[in-house]
Order: sequence, then structure tokens, then C-alpha cells
Amino acid sequence: MKIGAPKESARGEARVALTPESAKQIQKLGHECLVETGAGVAAGFNDDVYREAGVTVVDGAEALWTQAEVVIKVREPSEEEARRLRDGQTLIAFFWPAQNEEMLELCKAQGATVIAMDMVPRISRAQKMDALSSMANIAGYRAVIEAGNNFGRFFTGQVTAAGKVPPAKVLVIGAGVAGLSAIGTATSLGAVVRAFDVRPEVAEQIESMGAEFLFLEFEESQDGSESGGYAAPSSPEFREKQLECFREQAPDVDIVITTALIPGKPAPKLWLEDMVEAMKPGSVIVDLAAEKGGNCDLTKPDEKVVTDNGVTVVGYTDFPSRMATQSSLLYSTNIRHMLTDLTPEKDGEIVHDMEDDVIRGATVTHQGEITFPPPPPKVKAIGASKPKPKEKEPTPEEKRAAEHATFKAQTKRQVTLLAVGGALMLLLGQVAPTSFMQHFIVFVLACFVGFQVIWGVSHSLHTPLMAVTNAISGIIILGAVLQIGSGSVIVGVLAAISVLIASINIVGGFLVTRRMLAMFQKS
Ligand code: NAI
Repeated sequence: MKIGAPKESARGEARVALTPESAKQIQKLGHECLVETGAGVAAGFNDDVYREAGVTVVDGAEALWTQAEVVIKVREPSEEEARRLRDGQTLIAFFWPAQNEEMLELCKAQGATVIAMDMVPRISRAQKMDALSSMANIAGYRAVIEAGNNFGRFFTGQVTAAGKVPPAKVLVIGAGVAGLSAIGTATSLGAVVRAFDVRPEVAEQIESMGAEFLFLEFEESQDGSESGGYAAPSSPEFREKQLECFREQAPDVDIVITTALIPGKPAPKLWLEDMVEAMKPGSVIVDLAAEKGGNCDLTKPDEKVVTDNGVTVVGYTDFPSRMATQSSLLYSTNIRHMLTDLTPEKDGEIVHDMEDDVIRGATVTHQGEITFPPPPPKVKAIGASKPKPKEKEPTPEEKRAAEHATFKAQTKRQVTLLAVGGALMLLLGQVAPTSFMQHFIVFVLACFVGFQVIWGVSHSLHTPLMAVTNAISGIIILGAVLQIGSGSVIVGVLAAISVLIASINIVGGFLVTRRMLAMFQKS
């Protein structure tokens, strides 16, 4: 099939859906790749690089849309582009079907199959095609860079000859993909980062990245999780508590990055005018939800405004496009994975399997029908499961009582074991010769002590323990080698077996120790 990427027609859009790298991979699926002249220039890929990758460069959009059997692009099609679609042709792009009903009708009327990259379900198998996450990741990163660009101070605290510089305090609201990416970027730049989300299950992730999760004292539980990997709207009481918490934070934080959104709903207003007023001059707010109305009262989509008290509010909606090379690389990889699923035999033939959860979920028009909204996927979405409730911490008295009970039970078991062992020895002593009994008792004690010693060692100490057992194995080999020469065949065979087993123990011990040490070595 001919897969073609036109130049994006939306004003200011610098991304491209096909990169030379992804083209090479798509060709391995048996497809032919086409690109419109100059389509990749803004993202840093000129026509020659495409030609080198075996891509045919086609002159003009009209020619590309006519020649390509599958059109891949970034933004939803314009009306002019949609009218170019024809029966049997496939379009893969961001489409936003819920907000683009007219466009959906038009594409259906043209007889085209449309795969909306924004409709890829958030399930584990589809992560490699999840273009929304790829773009949100970039947006989160870029939001911090943009904030830094507008913030007049360092992110990291410093002690210099000229004085002490405090670290910047960053608050991230909404710890989804974009939020987590912003948290990671801000902490790596040395800022003190706090974060809030209605889904408490992200607390661990936030803390593992070195940020502080702002917990709310709220009975209803800070639980806004719902199926689909997205959040559910919170109650008015919860919202009030949340705003109270933000109001407390406002005079203290320097940078606020808001990413809170519930799909299909306007962005919740979380950073209100009075909070902006309470912020220090020079502070920065980056509102990633600007496109959906913004989380901040003062956000103006696509604009940067400076308030009377000197707070900069950034409402750009094109963060991924501002990092066009990176975005194009990730987006084209998402598209390439989608094409891989659509080409199961790698023979250049597209098989549109509507039984496949991912393909079905993303397909919005197919064979002259509108297939949106899709049925819920059979597989649970990532992050849809609720966290297990935390077990109640035992009080010190309860802990002490539990320890005492365990100790008593252990002692009882050991005494019983010793009594039974002693009785067995006595019985055996009645019939066995004295010389045998001497060796036998030493052997039994060695087994008992050895077992107790090894059993009691914590896992973290198994590497040194292995070194000790290697030394013991060495002694066994020495003893066995001395016995191999003895006249008895049985002794010789037993000695040979001992050498073999001890050698395996030593070699295995060394290999495992080496692997464990390698885990602690810096690459
Ligand atoms: P996501 O769904 O993964 O994350 C949104 C997070 O907000 C979720 O963790 C959710 O629990 C949280 N949330 C929802 N309501 C909340 C509330 N009332 N209080 C606190 N947290 C709340 O979404 P993703 O992919 O991280 O995207 C975040 C935002 O970034 C979206 O608005 C998206 O449109 C936007 N975006 C903006 C771009 C730009 O260039 N400006 C580019 C890409 C994404």
C-alpha cells in the first residue's frame, strides 16, 4: 500500500507524521512511503533525507492525497482535506470525533476509513500507539522549560559567593502523563516540587520522583478515579477543600503548572483569580489545559499574559509543535506501530480487524458507517484499578504482643523438635555401634546448625553467605580429593560425587555473586 504524509495545513503546525526513520520501518511492512515536498522541513527533516530513506517525495498536496492509499497526518483534516478523501482510502490522524461531528459526517460521506489517534484506548498493549501520551509527555517537559524561560531565577538552590539562592517552588496540578513529565523535569532541574491530583493512586509515583504529594484531609477520600485510565469529576465539597489547599499554596509557590482535565469535559477552574493575586511578582503559571478553557481563571488560549501584580500566565496550546523534531519522532513511531498492527502479515496489505480492541477503539468511520463511540474495550484501562486500601498500622502494644506470641510459638516448636530428636538418638544408640553414633551425632548437629544459620540470614546478606559456603565447599573438595585414592570403590565414588557437587556450588556461587555485584556497578 502507498502510505503518504502531507504537509500539515494548520497554521503554525511544525510536526510531521512521517520521519525518515519511521519510513524505513514502514517499508519493512511491505508498504511504499510518500511525503509531500517540504512536509518535514519545520521538524528538521528535509526532502533529501526522506529520499535517502527510500521515500518518494511528491509535489503538492493534491498529488499526495490522490496517490496515497493511506494518508497519515498529525492534525485533524481541514474541510478541504476531508473532501479529498475517497472511497476505500484510510486516514490516520488526531481527529477528536466527539468535538468534530460535522467532520465525522463528511468523512463518512466520502466513504473513507478514519483512525483517530486520540481514540487509541489506554490499555497496556496499546501504549506504543498512545500518541496522546507521547504528546502530553512532551507538553509537560516543555511547560517546565517555558516556565523557566519566563521565570527570572534559578530552579535549583545555590550557595554562591554573591549570596544564597533559594530553590524555586513548583506546584503541579494534575499528575497524569503531562503532569508527571513536568514533575520529573522540574525535580531534575533542582526545584522543590509539590503536586496534587484527585487520584490518590498517583501519590506513590509522585513521591518516587522526589516531589511532595499534597494530601487533602477529606473523609470522602481523595478518590476521583474512574475506568478508562482517566479521572472522574469530584464533588463540590471536595473541590472546596482542594481550592482551600491551593489558596494556602499560592503565596508560597513560584511556578504553577496546571494539567487537570477530565476527557470530554471543559477544564475545571482550579487556580482562581484571587490565587493569582496572592502570588509573588515574577511568578509563572503555565496552563496546559488552555485549549479546553484552562485551569486558571486568567488563561488566554494561545497567549502569554502578564497580570497587574507581575504574574506571567502562559496559555500556549502548541507545546508539542514547539518541539517539532521530538514530537514528530514520537508521533511517527506511534503511527508506525498502528500500521504494524494493521499489517499483520507484513505483506503491504492493510487488514482492518474490527475485532481488535485497539483498532476498533480508534476507528471512527469505516465502510460508510460512523463507528464512534466505540464499545468499551474488553481489557481494563491502565490506572483504572483502584488502589488497595491501606492496612491499619498496629499500635506499639499490639506489635509487642504479636512479637511475644511468635517468640513463644517458636520456642515451643524448638523444644519439641529437640525432645523428639533426643529420643530418636537414644533409640538408635541402643542398636548402632559407638563409632557410628559419634560421627552420626556430629553429622546431625552440623545439618541442624547449618540450616539454622542459613535460614536466619537476611536476603541482603546472601552474597557474603555464598562466599562462606564457597570456602566450606573448598574444604569439602580437599577432603574428597584425599579420599579418592583410598582402596574402597564406594569411598572413591562418594568422594568423586562430593568433588562434583562442591565444584558446582563454587562455580555457581561465583557466577551469581558476579551478577549481583554487577547490579551495583555504574555502567
Ligand atoms: P491525563 O488525563 O493523563 O491527566 C490529567 C490529570 O488531571 C489526571 O491525572 C486527573 O486525575 C487530573 N485531574 C482531573 N481533574 C482534576 C482536578 N479537579 N484536580 C486535580 N487533578 C485533576 O491528561 P494528560 O495527557 O496528562 O494531559 C493533561 C492536559 O494537557 C490536558 O488538558 C491536555 O489537553 C493538555 N495538553 C496540552 C498540550 C499543549 O500544548 N498545551 C499538549 C498536550 C496535552
